[in-house]
Amino acid sequence: MTDQSEHYFTAEPASDDERRPLRVRLAGRDVEVEVAAGVFSPGGVDKGTQVLLREVPAPPSGDLLDLGCGWGPLALTMALESPHATVWAVDVNTRALDLVRRNAERLGLAGVRAVTPDAVPDDVAFAAIWSNPPIRVGKQVLHDMLRRWLPRLGRDAAAWLVVQKNLGSDSLARWIDAELGLRTAREGSSKGFRVLHVVR
Ligand SMILES: C[S@@+](CC[C@H](N)C(=O)[O-])C[C@H]1O[C@@H](n2cnc3c(N)ncnc32)[C@H](O)[C@@H]1O
Repeated sequence: MTDQSEHYFTAEPASDDERRPLRVRLAGRDVEVEVAAGVFSPGGVDKGTQVLLREVPAPPSGDLLDLGCGWGPLALTMALESPHATVWAVDVNTRALDLVRRNAERLGLAGVRAVTPDAVPDDVAFAAIWSNPPIRVGKQVLHDMLRRWLPRLGRDAAAWLVVQKNLGSDSLARWIDAELGLRTAREGSSKGFRVLHVVR
């Protein structure tokens, strides 16, 4: 049985880990992935994630970060578009990480590393960060998460975040600039979502 009250950011979801195939379009390709209850948006690519994928430029090579990867739509897209990159798919939800590993393997994407936050080596700087961050964890956790990862952007690198407008995208942009000393531009908005472009 699926526990509908379970949060998608639970470390070890208690709901049945029944895997389901899902056909989606990523990086212009129709692919089949595996999803499960207890992870974010198991019914398809989330609307906000779709908005981000429409706005974001193709990723460079080097080390790339999908912060809060879920079952992996952003990490898999990065790896499909930049096959020589190392794509760090980070999440606290171990079921999500297992799905990303299996989905990367299915698609032959050897550069994907699906790991918990502490497993990313400290000396890795990211050439790009893409994220549909977990707003519902609360402001404190969200801010701690961004404080931890955004300063790890390399030189000339950019982060691309998608945030629902009515969940505070504009105040989050101001917080990033004021607290982290970065520069955030509002790159576009669609269907109630705002895409934020963050640089040093
Ligand atoms: C809104 S979902 C986006 C998932 C996926 N990127 C997508 O677009 O479908 C945010 C993800 O962040 C994860 N998350 C929550 N807290 C986190 C943390 N402290 N560090 C990393 N990921 C976290 C959640 O488990 C969830 O999978």
